[in-house]
Amino acid sequence: MTDTTRWGILATGKIAHSFATDLALVPGAELAAVGSRRQECAAAFARRHGAGTAHGSYEALVADPDVDVVYIATPHALHLDNARLAFAAGKHVLCEKPLTLNVADSEELVRLAGVHDRFLMEAMWTACHPVVRAVAAAVRSGRYGAPRQVHAELGFRVDAPPEDRMLNPDLGAGALLDMGIYPLTFAHLVLGPAEELRGTASLSPGGIDLDVVMTGRYAGGALATMSASMTSWSSRAAAVATDLGRIDLADFHHPEHAVFTPAAGGEPVRIEGTEPVLGQGYGNEIAEVGRCLAAGLRESPMVPHAQTLALMENMDDLRRQLGVRYAADDRAAGE
Ligand SMILES: NC(=O)c1ccc[n+]([C@@H]2O[C@H](COP(=O)([O-])OP(=O)(O)OC[C@H]3O[C@@H](n4cnc5c(N)ncnc54)[C@H](OP(=O)(O)O)[C@@H]3O)[C@@H](O)[C@H]2O)c1
Repeated sequence: MTDTTRWGILATGKIAHSFATDLALVPGAELAAVGSRRQECAAAFARRHGAGTAHGSYEALVADPDVDVVYIATPHALHLDNARLAFAAGKHVLCEKPLTLNVADSEELVRLAGVHDRFLMEAMWTACHPVVRAVAAAVRSGRYGAPRQVHAELGFRVDAPPEDRMLNPDLGAGALLDMGIYPLTFAHLVLGPAEELRGTASLSPGGIDLDVVMTGRYAGGALATMSASMTSWSSRAAAVATDLGRIDLADFHHPEHAVFTPAAGGEPVRIEGTEPVLGQGYGNEIAEVGRCLAAGLRESPMVPHAQTLALMENMDDLRRQLGVRYAADDRAAGE
């Protein structure tokens, strides 16, 4: 493999477009091909983003010899099968979040990556975001005191037809897996793995979690409150309260910087990333995948398999508490 990473994008929905837009900004990243269930969608996507080849099936995309790594941008419920397809064709995989619907399926993907000796990373771009990384590093350093409480929330009102992936349980609909994964990840990055999580939710008549609120306990007794909503416009703010002051992110989903305000007075400290944000931030995860592949790595230290699995396990635990179950859970349980 050369220093250029040749990408194949699998699916042509909303995030695939955002990803391709950022990919164009990343040095060493080339959009070699796109694959869609429909040839005309692949062709339109390829024209818009300058992809080398447009494939009318996912099978044709993963078989393309000009593709090194496949980016999977289908609804959650399809990630397992799509990633399996890519591994079987010998491709590396960057797969949208959540990696799968439950931890058993994620463990299966990690196993398959090992069997095929391929790179696998969940597209948890928050963990690759320069500002989030700077905040997590600053907290870990103890520079701004001991973290005692974290708060993070994310939500927007979903106006979509019932068959849309955001509302269709067969495709993995629900606020926790779609949005709650971000505040959970933020707390994990700042405080480490959760020791205990509690959740409560408002469910739709069909059993989808539309609104979810979570609390977590972490090492040293640090606590987090987190929420996600598909019915309301949350602030997207996050804060880390320490014994010396508070770090605020006005929008932790797309942060430009963070600010530490010391309780003892004095000037607030601006916390910036040590490298630029590439595009909307997807560019930084694209660069990270390129860096890992060039180094011959099979997982990213920024989004290690253990972190993905820990968060998937957290979400399984929370879903049991909320009463949210997918068909994949029955399959994993052998029912
Ligand atoms: N990282 C982020 O910031 C971010 C943001 C949004 C979403 N996501 C994740 O990305 C994934 C896709 O989200 P999205 O908002 O892009 O979804 P979307 O707009 O609904 O697009 C999903 C695409 O998947 C393909 N697909 C294959 N089988 C499908 C089926 N049965 N039903 C619907 N689509 C099917 C379609 O592409 P073709 O017709 O071309 O085959 C479709 O356009 C989700 O897992 C989501 O969690 C991540």
